[in-house]
Amino acid sequence: MAERTLAIIKPDAVRRNLIGEIIAQITQSGFRIIGMKLVRLSRQQAEDFYAVHRGRPFFEDLVCFMSSGPVVVLALEKERAVEDFRALIGATDPAEAAPGTIRQRFGTSKGENAIHGSDSPENAEREIAFFFSRTELLDHDV
Ligand code: RTP
Ligand code: MG
Repeated sequence: MAERTLAIIKPDAVRRNLIGEIIAQITQSGFRIIGMKLVRLSRQQAEDFYAVHRGRPFFEDLVCFMSSGPVVVLALEKERAVEDFRALIGATDPAEAAPGTIRQRFGTSKGENAIHGSDSPENAEREIAFFFSRTELLDHDV
């Protein structure tokens, strides 16, 4: 089976009506969508999702921002999905992201950087399970 990764179109991009353009770039780059939902994260869900960053100076801003409005959560499949998706989104700070990457095109600051991508295959599986039950993903058996 091809590798999987989790993407989140963040509240800044949803507010700016960029969902369509961002999904177009993702699918044109060879990723297959196997799960998708529009959700508003509670503060608690945002804290749990980014628990690894608890205690960092930016944690409070991050949790506030991620729960500030709806997001689109995508489970994606592709060979080398994690590595290729991190390349597609670009550096955390849009000002440092390579030309043509999603964050360079659509991000506005290090905090409001339009999109999340899992940083390892292990975290990708954990993050997919955070948002999707097995039967909400394509190709599950039964
Ligand atoms: P993400 O998890 O959202 O895909 O972002 P990332 O791997 O590129 O960066 P990470 O280190 O995991 O940080 C998570 C999110 O926290 C915000 N952040 N702000 N102000 C800052 O110094 C700072 N550092 C990180 C960003 O929104 C980043 O995406
Ligand atoms: Mg990260």
